[in-house]
Amino acid sequence: MDCRSRLRSRSAVTEPTGRDKAAAAKAAPAVQAVTIDSFIAELAAFRAAASETLGGVAGAAGLEQARIEFLGARSGRLKAIQKLLSGLASADRPAGGRHFNEAKGAVNALFAAVQDTLAGAGAGSAAAADAIDVTLPGEPLRLGHVHPITQTIRRVQEIMARLGFESVDGPEVEDQWHNFEALAIPAEHPARDPLDNFYLAVARGADPLLLRSQTSTVQIRVMENRRPPLRIVSLGRVYRPDTADATHYPMFHQVEGLLIEPGTTMAHLKSVLRQLASSFLGGDVHVRFRPSFFPFTEPSVEFDMEWGGRWIEMGGAGMVDPAVLAAVGYDPEEVSGFAFGLGVERIAARRYGVADIRDFYRNDVRFLRQF
Ligand code: DAH
Repeated sequence: MDCRSRLRSRSAVTEPTGRDKAAAAKAAPAVQAVTIDSFIAELAAFRAAASETLGGVAGAAGLEQARIEFLGARSGRLKAIQKLLSGLASADRPAGGRHFNEAKGAVNALFAAVQDTLAGAGAGSAAAADAIDVTLPGEPLRLGHVHPITQTIRRVQEIMARLGFESVDGPEVEDQWHNFEALAIPAEHPARDPLDNFYLAVARGADPLLLRSQTSTVQIRVMENRRPPLRIVSLGRVYRPDTADATHYPMFHQVEGLLIEPGTTMAHLKSVLRQLASSFLGGDVHVRFRPSFFPFTEPSVEFDMEWGGRWIEMGGAGMVDPAVLAAVGYDPEEVSGFAFGLGVERIAARRYGVADIRDFYRNDVRFLRQF
């Protein structure tokens, strides 16, 4: 049934009966008599029409239009039905009022529900804008990594391990014996000058402690505790009171190598250094020796590596001095070996093309991220 057309043909409930007409003629203004049944039917039709109209409402404008039509205070349909109340027999009026209020409440609730739904749809689309789009590329995780100096240390340890050299550590706070004396650096040697070392204020009487100035100390510590044959490599920090510039820093790292085996010669030394250089820098790197002097090696050399068409100074080396072997209790007549030392920052700077070693210590992630 078409509820709307039924509702519009109000005559069905408003058509006055003959008896009512007579009553109306007496009481002015005339009130149309309405039976309770037709009043209830009118309310039911009103509810059905409102429900159908609201079901088709698509937006706020449509809802407002429907509100005016059904609930409008001046000429809405509910208002028209309300006017019929006074046409009910007085005995039916309380029941009529109840039915009226019930219908009014129901249609109001229906309006509120539709209004909520429309508002919810708006909020829903705003929420959709905030929602996660799983098809977008993810935010890259910022992964940290090992510092280039540590990478270099690990790489050298790896290369040396393949040549049979075991990695060992030694203390950074050293005594005179291990940093100088056992390495044949006597008391009057300029290398022991207080201006060239970080002596500690907590000196042990005549034997002041210092931050080690070289990793050669580890040669002594290992030889004191072990018997040959030995192949060790030690990488770690050393300290010297140098003013920081592009090639100096008061703290830096060294690689120390030591091999003690029967029949060792300078040729073995050169082979090991060439292997290390070729593996670390890549390609076939040539090594050359220049005569030099170190208190703890005899003969002593400084060694250069040819890389990128240039000869680059890398470090010092030589055959372990008999005085050093004797200092650790070895018999220099029986054992011999070689030692070498080079700077970690120097080889890292060469390999990575870093012009200023201070960049390694500035903690600038833009620099460090490149390695
Ligand atoms: N310790 C030396 C330095 O700091 C480097 C060095 C030279 C180490 C010769 C050695 C070596 O083992 O044989 O300058």
